[in-house]
Amino acid sequence: MEKKSLFHYNSKILKVSQLAAIAVYDCIGKKDEVLADKAAVESMRSELNKLDFRGTIVIGEGERDKAPMLFIGEKVGNNKSNLQFDIALDPLEGTKITANNEKNALTVIALGDQNSFLNAPDVYMEKIAVGPGLPNNLLDLDNPLEDTLEKLAFYKKKKVENISVCFLNRPRHKKIFDIVNKKKCKKFLLPDGDIFGAISTSIKKFNIDLYIGIGGAPEGVLAASALKCLNGQMQCRLIFNNSQQKKRAMKMGIKNLKRKYQIEDLIKKDAIFVATGVTDGYLLRGIKKKKNIFETHSLTISTKTKKINFKKTKFKI
Ligand code: FBP
Repeated sequence: MEKKSLFHYNSKILKVSQLAAIAVYDCIGKKDEVLADKAAVESMRSELNKLDFRGTIVIGEGERDKAPMLFIGEKVGNNKSNLQFDIALDPLEGTKITANNEKNALTVIALGDQNSFLNAPDVYMEKIAVGPGLPNNLLDLDNPLEDTLEKLAFYKKKKVENISVCFLNRPRHKKIFDIVNKKKCKKFLLPDGDIFGAISTSIKKFNIDLYIGIGGAPEGVLAASALKCLNGQMQCRLIFNNSQQKKRAMKMGIKNLKRKYQIEDLIKKDAIFVATGVTDGYLLRGIKKKKNIFETHSLTISTKTKKINFKKTKFKI
């Protein structure tokens, strides 16, 4: 398939993410995570089904039996064209945040040619990421974090105490917390939303040197698609808590359950990444409404442009 075909869908995918954010607007602060997620999922599905392509959800809402819509393997698009794409999405990154009207909720989609994305099951994933301009293969999940921090300080010509480390604020990250403290590095703790965490390493204004920790695997693949477009580096490894999860992963084609994935293994071909703010956040402003006009704030990145394009759009609804 010609690369031109994928990039032609940039604005269409952007609109899918914008309309999903608008659909969530009335659910913000309603203390109902399911309601908010459902609004985003229904909107995304309906808009994806209007597009002239044959799309397959490879990263979605989970298994078919648990997710009624946008489940892994679901076909979307109006089939009026033979163009086939794979889609990775998180219709609402931050369901809890949205329900509580807190910061940083996003709608997120990535589009790639067929077989672009790792078919990751909906399990946890170990992740480590840095931004561009560093020697290749700098990251290894099995290296002691202390060494990684020292290496980063060396290559970034900073004192180690000026290295800033971003991670989700979870009890499972106590060891990371302690090491970062011991090294006197700066901490950027996230209540939720680790797609932003990984991407933040590749956007200068955040001044974040390292993202590390355990989060969702779907979020890991989505973050990797953005980082690939921004020349960042990321390494990930799936975490399995029971034999059912392992069996499911093997059925999805994962042969080595302990494999460490580099960005090229997570995103194998060209991709477009799009996100729209739902609530105000570090990366994007949330949805604003004045009378019947909605204002959306989005970003698009692709492996073609390798540059973040911020976009403010008004919709009369
Ligand atoms: P949701 O969109 O499902 O609310 O996920 C938010 C999130 O913070 C992700 O960004 C992250 O990968 C995951 O949850 C971490 O999971 P947990 O909250 O179980 O630690």
